[in-house]
Amino acid sequence: MTKLSVNINKIATLRNARGGNNPDVVKVALDCEKFGAEGITVHPRPDERHIRRSDVYALRPLLTTEFNMEGYPSPEFIDLVLKVKPHQVTLVPDAPDQITSNSGWDTKTHLSFLSDLMETFGGAGIRTSIFVGTDIELIEYAAKAGADRVELYTEPYATLYPTNPEAAIAPFVEAAKAVRSLGMGLNAGHDLSLVNLKYMHDNIPWLDEVSIGHALISDALYLGLQKTIEEYKNCLQ
Ligand code: PXP
Repeated sequence: MTKLSVNINKIATLRNARGGNNPDVVKVALDCEKFGAEGITVHPRPDERHIRRSDVYALRPLLTTEFNMEGYPSPEFIDLVLKVKPHQVTLVPDAPDQITSNSGWDTKTHLSFLSDLMETFGGAGIRTSIFVGTDIELIEYAAKAGADRVELYTEPYATLYPTNPEAAIAPFVEAAKAVRSLGMGLNAGHDLSLVNLKYMHDNIPWLDEVSIGHALISDALYLGLQKTIEEYKNCLQ
C-alpha cells in the first residue's frame, strides 16, 4: 500500500500572509488525517517563511499518522529533528533562499556528510530518506550512505507526462527497481498531482509513500479538502 503524506507548507504560507492563525495549520493537519491522509509532511526552512519551528513542536504530540520532516540538514534543522523525533526525516539539498527543491542530492560527492547524518538520525530511531534523482549510481551511493529510503524527485516526470507518459515514467521505473534491489524503501514527491499520480502508481506499485503539497492544496480550493484527499488516495489503489 502506498501511503499519502500531505505536505502542509502551503497552509502555513497562507496563514503567514495575514499574520494571524487562519488557516490553523494544526487543525488542517488533523483534518487531513481525519480525511484519510496517512502522513503529514513539513518542510521548515531557516527563515520560517512557511512552517515555523513552533508549528513543528505543536504538531508532534497531536499527529496520529506518520510525521515526515524534510529539509536541508543545517545545524538548526538537525537540532530540530533530533528534538522533535519525527517518524521520518527526508534530507533535501536546497539552499535557504530557494523557492522549492529543484534537484536531488549528489550522493557521491556528499557521501561522508550524508553517511554521518544517517548514523545520527538512525541512532535516534528516526527513519532516514534521501531525496534523489533517477541516476542509478547516485541511488547506489544513497544506499552506501546507509539511507533507509530514498525519495525520488518527480518534477521531471510531471513535466514530461502530459506529452509523453511512457518516456516520462521510464527512468523512474528503472530507478525504482534499483532502489528495491538495494533493499531500500521508496518514496516519491514533487509536482505529483491528480493528473499524473495514478500512472506513476500503476507503473511503480511498490512505492511506499508519496509526499504531495502544492497540487493537492490547490485542488482543495475547488473540491474541498476531504474530497481532494479521497481523490488522491483513489489514485493509489
Ligand atoms: N518532497 C520534497 C522533498 C519537497 O521538497 C517537496 C516540496 O516542498 C515535496 C515533496 C512536495 O512537492 P509539491 O509541493 O510539488 O507536491
